[in-house]
Parts: sequence; structure tokens; C-alpha cells
Amino acid sequence: MTAAHIPVLAAEMLAALDPRDGQTYLDGTFGRGGYSRAILQAADCAVCAVDCDPDAIAQGNTLAASFDGRLTLLQGRFGTMIELLRDAGIERLDGVVLDLGVSSPQLDDAARGFSFRQDGPLDMRMTRDGQTAAEIVNGLDEKPLADLIRELGEERHARRVARAIVRARDTSPIESTLQLAQIVRDALPHAKDGIDPATRTFMALRIHVNNELGELERGLRAAEAMLQPGGRLVVICFHSLEDRRVKNFLRSRSGGAPRVSRHMPLPEPGLAPSFSLIHRRGITPGDTEIAANPRARSARLRAAVRTEAPAWPLEDAA
Ligand SMILES: C[S@@+](CC[C@H](N)C(=O)[O-])C[C@H]1O[C@@H](n2cnc3c(N)ncnc32)[C@H](O)[C@@H]1O
Repeated sequence: MTAAHIPVLAAEMLAALDPRDGQTYLDGTFGRGGYSRAILQAADCAVCAVDCDPDAIAQGNTLAASFDGRLTLLQGRFGTMIELLRDAGIERLDGVVLDLGVSSPQLDDAARGFSFRQDGPLDMRMTRDGQTAAEIVNGLDEKPLADLIRELGEERHARRVARAIVRARDTSPIESTLQLAQIVRDALPHAKDGIDPATRTFMALRIHVNNELGELERGLRAAEAMLQPGGRLVVICFHSLEDRRVKNFLRSRSGGAPRVSRHMPLPEPGLAPSFSLIHRRGITPGDTEIAANPRARSARLRAAVRTEAPAWPLEDAA
């Protein structure tokens, strides 16, 4: 048995999504269904729930049965929501919610290889297919490995970590989570903030293995294309790299100063805002929620309402 997932910022998500009777919502990150359940309980609406992890979808069948046809489960990536939903006969949505990252059951299952606190295979694939973290760690040259750890983990000592990994794997391949965690801990100075030094390297590998930033960009654009005027987009992030992308996407699409970034090229002049922001700043959890669920600590919610304007032209996603 794995632990349950405590939904983060659930009340704030509901307030921002504002579910109404007769409408159709996408929960793009079903997990253990905490958000889907809350939405279905808040209004007599339909929820289409997507998760790329086959385990999450399999576990969700009981919940789906209890909502009498109002909850449809689909395995896939939210970045491909247009195709996934079209196959399910859905062309337009009244709301989209994305609660990014891994769920507690994924993190707590040592066999999935996400945790540096328990020993397991160095896997980290949410989808259970594609390249594993072990293949990245044992296969990349030192320089690209350091770049990956620096960019996706925001690790200042990335060169040092990459060098230690390459030295260790010259002796034998790095196959397990605890093996990698120990190599990183041995390579880095003792942390004064109490954060395990392996945190940032594990984060970088997880984001890379699951192409989480590319998925986010595709998901935001797909949501823009699928939402009806008045429909709502709600995104909860746990990582500053993701939050920055959501912030820049919504800021530029809502007529705020667009940011110059290679990830978000400047729009053509004259495009009408396709979103209007619900809050000026991201919403963060209060002390009570953080005390009850420490995982909520780094969460930030951003939300916007779709305008009547056409979706902006698609740029190439990463
Ligand atoms: C933080 S959990 C969501 C928890 C959920 N809100 C709940 O209340 O139970 C994130 C979930 O999203 C899934 N996920 C992550 N990236 C995804 C993607 N690109 N497409 C579909 N599912 C994804 C993960 O497999 C995980 O189950």
C-alpha cells in the first residue's frame, strides 16, 4: 500500500475554477483524483481526467464508478489533450486544471525510483516507458550532465556533481537511488539549510526524464486552444522553473509585458489578449496547510479566464 495523496491548495483551486452545473472540465493530472473528486462534488458537471501514469488511471476506476458516468479517465499526457479529448468526443472545455509534478504515491513507492530516501531502481518514469534516469546518469558525457543538473535542478555545484557521477560510474554503473544520492552527498558541502544535497540532482533528472517543461508548454497552449470564452485555466506548480513559464505565458497572453525568452518568443504585435488574470500574483498555501502537509510548502497557484480572442499562433514547444 502506498500513502494517499493530500490535494494541495484544493479550496483555492475550486475557487479559481468555479465549477458550474452542466459544464465540462479537464483534470490534466488526475493523480489519486483529489481534484477530480472536489470538482465533481462542487457541481453537477463532467470531468475528463488524464494521467500519464497507468497506475494512477487503474487506481481511479473505483472513483469513476462512484460518479455515475460523470468522470471519464484517460491515460496520456496533458500536452496531447487536444487529440486525447477529440478521441473521447470532446472539442471544447469550460475549465482546465494542471497540478504539476509527482503524486505522493509515486514518490513513496521506492520501486518507481523518484525518492532519494528509499532504495529503488533509478527509474523516475511517470509513464513507465522511455529512457530511465539510470540511462541518463550512465550515458551522458560530463558536460551535458552538468548542464542538465544546473539548468533543471538549479544546482550551483553541478560540475562537481557531474564529475563525481562520471568517476563513480567508471567503476560500476549507477543503478539505484541510494547509490546516486550518496555520490551526490559525498560530492557536495554539508547543507546549512537542512535540505538534502541530493534534492536538486534528483529534481533535475525527474524533470528531464519526463520532459516536464516541454509538456507544460504544450499543455498551456493546448488549454488555450480548447477553452471556451469564460473558461478557466488553473495551474499549480511546485518548482520555480515551471512557475516562471506559467507566469510568463499568462502574463503575455493577458496583455502584460511579454518577457523575452527563448522558451516564449515574442508574439506578433497586435494580438488580442486570450486570457485575463484572476489574481495579480500567484496564490500560496497558508501556514495551517503547510503544517498539515509539508509538501504544499513550495506550491503556487496561478489562474486566468479565457477571453473571446482567438488562441495565439502556436510556436514550437520544447
Ligand atoms: C501532483 S500529482 C496530482 C495530484 C492530484 N491533483 C490529486 O489531487 O490527486 C501529479 C500527477 O500528474 C501526473 N502527470 C505529470 N505530468 C503529466 C503529464 N504531462 N500528463 C499527464 N499526467 C501527468 C503524474 O503522473 C501524477 O499522477
